[in-house]
Amino acid sequence: MSTLIKNGRIITATDDYYADVYIDGEQITQIGTNLAVHPDRVIDATGKLVIPGGIDPHTHMDMPFGGTTSADDFASGTLAAAHGGTTTIIDFAIQAKGGSTLDALDTWHEKAAGKATIDYGFHMIVTDMAVARLGELSRLRDAGVTSYKLFMAYPGVLYVDDGTLYRTFRQAGENGTRICMHAENGIVIDEIIREAVADGKVEPRWHALTRPTRMEAEGVHRAIAIAEVARVPLYIVHLSSHDALEEVKRGRGRGVDVQAETCPQYLFLDQTIYDRPNFEGAKWVMTPALREKWNQATLWQGLKFGDLSAVATDHCPFCFNGQKELGKESFTKIPNGAPGVENRLSLMYHGGVVGGRLSLNRWVELTSTSAAKTFGLFPRKGTIAVGSDADIVVFDPNRKETISINNPFTHHMRVDYSAYEGFEVTGWSEVVLSRGRLIVNNGKAETTGGGKFVARAGVGELLR
Ligand code: URP
Ligand code: ZN
Ligand code: ZN
Repeated sequence: MSTLIKNGRIITATDDYYADVYIDGEQITQIGTNLAVHPDRVIDATGKLVIPGGIDPHTHMDMPFGGTTSADDFASGTLAAAHGGTTTIIDFAIQAKGGSTLDALDTWHEKAAGKATIDYGFHMIVTDMAVARLGELSRLRDAGVTSYKLFMAYPGVLYVDDGTLYRTFRQAGENGTRICMHAENGIVIDEIIREAVADGKVEPRWHALTRPTRMEAEGVHRAIAIAEVARVPLYIVHLSSHDALEEVKRGRGRGVDVQAETCPQYLFLDQTIYDRPNFEGAKWVMTPALREKWNQATLWQGLKFGDLSAVATDHCPFCFNGQKELGKESFTKIPNGAPGVENRLSLMYHGGVVGGRLSLNRWVELTSTSAAKTFGLFPRKGTIAVGSDADIVVFDPNRKETISINNPFTHHMRVDYSAYEGFEVTGWSEVVLSRGRLIVNNGKAETTGGGKFVARAGVGELLR
């Protein structure tokens, strides 16, 4: 199958020009004007932006967590992602405590294989790392899992101690791979939670009030210090606050290889939302928690000037009915996480480009190219170039949509609410191709399935 995308304005992280894109099979084979080709299909992109498919490096499909399982599996979640212009996700396999990380990888392959509509990779969540197990990390790398997430939060669940951090960091650094860090001091936070609950403070708003930004900043500071000594590139996930960003800047200022992502929820929502009546605040109980609104300006600045290098969603949906409700008696029982994989490109275009905070190039970089480069997918993914996978979005920069669970153009996630209900956005992913397959066309799924696991390259290596 061959496709010609005509008359579009091509935007990559570095370029901005008008040309046609010719796709033969799964890859882009020509870019230019007046191409001498005879395509099977022509897509007219007049007035539209032609951008590399979005890459969301932080999702949790089919994740057992908080006494339940995230509501999207790899079928529903990747199709929703596709509707929103995302053509690759990097999800998380979870090592069972005391178990093998290689077994965990097999389990997650089983969850995704044959279901995903877009391509996917895995980070490995490391929940313990005995010395005898360190060899597994190079086997994971050879299997294309070149990044590992560790948690300072969630004691008793995913938390690991500093010794485990150091041990894993050292080996990951030696292997030419990367560490992703959930940086919050979960031990102190658990004490604060214990005090709050003892005082009868159990409503959703206490989720935010028991997780001070200083405890996020402390985690970021500690992770950077350990990574510096262990000599491993570090990537802070879901950074949410001014305090935490200051620590990233400080580390970068002294030359540590640390990057950080933030998420749309920390740019568009704030902690007043937890005060909504009838337990509704539970919809936004996620970790880190939403912050005071003033943090948002700092995060946008971080995105603009480079101290934040990517925007992921941390898509981890739980239905309000039956799942969030598990925490009706106490916020400590609310499954942590919120949906968003479908809305990232539009939100970031609206708040970033239309809002005058980001250039078009930076928008593409933050939603696609940067993650591709950081996580070993570039140049196969994350750009529009001859030889790259034809993961392409034709994006209408003028189309307005109101994000809503009732809007068939904005909600395909298998969850009974939208975190951005009623937000009007300008900018929408109209046509979405994954390796040359037309998967979404004007809000309609053209095909499902067909997504493949991508074995990612190590730090500094190219994926061809
Ligand atoms: O609340 C969240 N973020 N849930 C997903 C797990 C994590 O910490 O990323
Ligand atoms: Zn996390
Ligand atoms: Zn997460």
